[in-house]
Amino acid sequence: MDDEEIRIGVFVCDCGTNIAGVVNVPQLVDYAMTLENVVFADEGRWSCSVDYLSRMKELIQDNRLNRIVISACTPRTHEPLFKRTAKEAGVNPYLLEFVSIREQVSWVHMKEPDIATDKAKDLIKMGVAKAALLEEGQEIRLPVKTDCLIIGGGMAGMNAALSVANQGFNANLVEKESRLGGILNQICFVSHDNHKTPAVKVIQAKVNEVESNPNINVYTDTDIEAVDGYIGNYKVKLKTNGDGSTEELDISTVIVATGMAELEPEGQFEYGNDSRVITQLQLDSKLKDKQVGDVKDVVMISCVNSKNEQRGCCSVGCHASVKNAVALKHLRQDANVHILYRDMSLIKEEGTAQQAAKRLGVKFLRFPDDRYPEVVKDNGDLVVKVYDLLLGREINVPADLLVLTTAFKGNETVEQIKGHLKVSGNPDGFFQESHVKLGPLEFATDGVSLAGCAKAPMTFKESCEEGIGAAMKASIPMKKGYIEAEGIVADIDLPDCTQCGLCSKRCPYNAIEVDEEKNPEVIKALCKGCGLCAADCPQECISIVHYSDEQVFAQVEAALEAKPEKKIVAFVCHWCALGGVDMAGVSRLQYPSNARLIRVMCSARVSMKMMQRPFELGAAGVLVAGCEFPTCHYITGNYAAEKRVNRSKKKIAKAGFDPEKLWNIWCSAADGPKFANTMRDMTRELGLG
Ligand code: FES
Repeated sequence: MDDEEIRIGVFVCDCGTNIAGVVNVPQLVDYAMTLENVVFADEGRWSCSVDYLSRMKELIQDNRLNRIVISACTPRTHEPLFKRTAKEAGVNPYLLEFVSIREQVSWVHMKEPDIATDKAKDLIKMGVAKAALLEEGQEIRLPVKTDCLIIGGGMAGMNAALSVANQGFNANLVEKESRLGGILNQICFVSHDNHKTPAVKVIQAKVNEVESNPNINVYTDTDIEAVDGYIGNYKVKLKTNGDGSTEELDISTVIVATGMAELEPEGQFEYGNDSRVITQLQLDSKLKDKQVGDVKDVVMISCVNSKNEQRGCCSVGCHASVKNAVALKHLRQDANVHILYRDMSLIKEEGTAQQAAKRLGVKFLRFPDDRYPEVVKDNGDLVVKVYDLLLGREINVPADLLVLTTAFKGNETVEQIKGHLKVSGNPDGFFQESHVKLGPLEFATDGVSLAGCAKAPMTFKESCEEGIGAAMKASIPMKKGYIEAEGIVADIDLPDCTQCGLCSKRCPYNAIEVDEEKNPEVIKALCKGCGLCAADCPQECISIVHYSDEQVFAQVEAALEAKPEKKIVAFVCHWCALGGVDMAGVSRLQYPSNARLIRVMCSARVSMKMMQRPFELGAAGVLVAGCEFPTCHYITGNYAAEKRVNRSKKKIAKAGFDPEKLWNIWCSAADGPKFANTMRDMTRELGLG
């Protein structure tokens, strides 16, 4: 491969009119042909169509292409498809570079076709410059056996275990409590319309199924003490709470179904000061035991600690309050039940529950978002003052039981399990899935799936379905007997390495072994390719496949070849930050065109040199964009990147550049407006607008 002539083919997609309606695609094709090493360029109306993909294979072969640049939509959705096509045409898929001219150009500069075309040219030039330096990579094939660990014995975990076991695999179901059932053990009924079937009966039926399945080993009262290894080769140490005995299991895949816990109100609405104020889950327990006492006036307040600046909708609060109101009315027909709410977020069948509740006499009363009810005491009696939107005035509702429908968080084991499995969490204290749409049942870590309320609050039905879904996800490699892991991994150039050990200390996955006895070694099956080690290596002797220093610098240089003083070089992580960029595109948010984006897998890949090099070449500014805290897909990469940006500012100042021109943002994949606003702010403050 080394001496082979580099023959790059550039495929520019019209995406119907999505790209071609703004950008002059024929001009891009002509321009691509002027770039060094480009021997072929073509325009495709719909490049991802079956017809064009088969034509692409022919074109690759006919033109003997050995590097490919796809200039189209976003790599986050379409890169695997084009990589597969390259592979089928006989080109190593790691020799393909993806340039986004829809989300980053035509959709966000719709009213400036000439400027958009110029920006697209720059992006293609950057892609070609990188493509010329690409090297072959290889997926890592790992054998996978048939033992699955399921952490959490709630409904999601039990369903996952049964699905795994019913396919003939071995399920090891570990529950920290002394009995299976999870949060269901605390609730009365699973929905409003089955108040004759207590949740405990639903649990028992499922527990019987689990316990009688010969392929399931149940470990209750057991904690996960340690986890070592990777997909196909995990060693899991269990510790029994009672006698402290330990056991080690050989595990191939893992399903996390640890469940959730209520976020207890802190002194709000007299909670904690007055025993008549309880949470919805506490009411559930009372209803389950038929111990609600002699209550007459019951008031429920929805959206406590949710739907605010810290948290979104809790997803299950409306369902829980309606369900419990119905259960309460069945128990105490003469009780006056008021549900005070901001919005009723109910799916169709839950809407039926609301109608049933109304028929039983439950009163629904809506209050404004910015005017929560107040609780006062009148001669020791609780009174809830609430502004009724329908009446347009404040009314007083007496309460001898006040129930707060509060938000949820991941349960208390989340932090510990995160550490064991090297997976990410989110700001709400739950685990973070790989991708909300493209990978909802899995982590970025191969072989580890995620189900139910470990991810977000869910209803009984959703948890059951998620458990089955996660089991299917875990079953794929167990059925195939192997997994092919992404070949974007670190590589150490041994002659230059001084064995300082920094890479090993920094790696969030313990994927680099360094000791005095032997040369440092990257355990490829553990490495996720975030690039943190390469960015921090003082000897600069670690390279990341597809994201080497040379490749990134080639992109920087190509971006800044003309009019650097007008340009911002933006390093953007593939996950949330690029998700935010794509979301800005999908939402057609229009922002200034100065930025030239360089994709890295994680913001942790951006070294101090990468931050400084654009300034040396005359760039107007540099942006480092990563996932919002704490949701980096490589656990802690964004924290490392933030520290590095701060250190870099000092270095940049010493080198005579203005450190204020180095920016960083941390955004979620849904936060298109944040990226668009940052572009506007940077352009204005850098004097480019
Ligand atoms: Fe986005 Fe690490 S993956 S910052």
